[in-house]
Amino acid sequence: MIQCPRGTRDFLPDELEKRRHYEAALRDVVLRHGFREIETPIFEEAELFILRSGPNVLKELYAFKDKGDRDIALRPEMTAPVVRAFVNGMSNDPKPIKVFYFGQCFRYERPQAGRYREFFQFGAEIIGSATPETDAEAIATAAAMIKALGLNEYRVRIGHIGVLRQRIADIGVPKERTAEVLQKLDKKLYDEARPILEEIGVSQGDIDALFALTETVGGPEVLDSAPLGEAGEYLREVVSYLNVMGVTDIEIDLGVVRGLDYYTGMVFEAEAPALGAEKQICGGGSYSLSELFGGEKVFSTGFAVGFDRALLAMEKEGIGYARKGIDYYVIPVSEDVRKQAFGIVTKLRDAGKSADIDIMGRKMGKALKYAAGIPARYAVIVGASELEKGVVTLRDMESGDQKEIPLADL
Ligand code: HAM
Repeated sequence: MIQCPRGTRDFLPDELEKRRHYEAALRDVVLRHGFREIETPIFEEAELFILRSGPNVLKELYAFKDKGDRDIALRPEMTAPVVRAFVNGMSNDPKPIKVFYFGQCFRYERPQAGRYREFFQFGAEIIGSATPETDAEAIATAAAMIKALGLNEYRVRIGHIGVLRQRIADIGVPKERTAEVLQKLDKKLYDEARPILEEIGVSQGDIDALFALTETVGGPEVLDSAPLGEAGEYLREVVSYLNVMGVTDIEIDLGVVRGLDYYTGMVFEAEAPALGAEKQICGGGSYSLSELFGGEKVFSTGFAVGFDRALLAMEKEGIGYARKGIDYYVIPVSEDVRKQAFGIVTKLRDAGKSADIDIMGRKMGKALKYAAGIPARYAVIVGASELEKGVVTLRDMESGDQKEIPLADL
């Protein structure tokens, strides 16, 4: 038997209906926040991702040569494609440009719970603005999306990669080794970061101070204790806007590093602790990419919710979804009314109702059982003697009550 490729999934109708439902809930949130939808190709020139996505993304890239010998990659994320599309076709539009997207991304990772090779992101980008308001707006939109899914158990951690990058540069780490150090700090692998820093020649005092900085975690008040200068002031301002927007369940964590290389300032992550190892359900921050793709340097802020992980977190919280079903299921009682029954189901559909009909000539008991499984709200039982009187039998599938109603009323 041929299975779907490792790390990918089929979404059968029950699952897909649920996913579409929550996708619509997220769509509703971003539309209410003034974002407009954008779609880019699923594959791009590999260079788009190689330019600035960082070593993690590179080793996970699904890249191949096409028949024209071009280096192509399936998109591992959608920020770079969206910024490319901005440079190609939107760079003269009034700023800020607020766009959102939903679609699959591909990373050649080792599959495990919550980590797939094909997964879905619901993300948003605010292009062309670099203010605390921009960052607050992005974080508030992400928080509203997580809330709209009904999730209660999650944490939003806000940091500033600019502070870390500056500190790493100040203690003498050359540019080409910054990503390597950040990667270790991201995973809090201090034992692995220390020898790298020692080899570069950083003093023990500076190493300890760098680690201490990444351990600056807590409420907004920690911004007062760490010597952060302008960045601290900036984050304080972001937090004060978030307060006004009712986003108060946040934590400052200067150890938020992010796995991608393009971030420049504020960075944030949301995690659902119930998910264990793969608990990050959203990640984002401010960045600049457009200059790499041939455009002017433009600052932006964005984020992406890991749709699959968010749904897993909802399951862990016991948030259920019941199949919607249909309004009517039409059951002809006998062969001689079969054609009329098709006329009835067509009228129901034309009137905007969702309606289905028995097409297998099942007996009443089995047909009702099938209708209950859909589930159908009502069964419309079409019999010959009733039709002669101009009526059909309407069965309430919840209560089991039946009554005859004129066809015209139906
Ligand atoms: P990211 O943190 O790499 O950021 O991915 C965003 C989210 O996608 C993660 O928080 C996670 O929930 C989900 N995710 C990542 N990899 C997998 C996987 N293998 N399986 C399932 N879910 C996964 C970005 O991609 C940035 N483009 C976000 C952004 C937008 N930054 C600025 N604008």
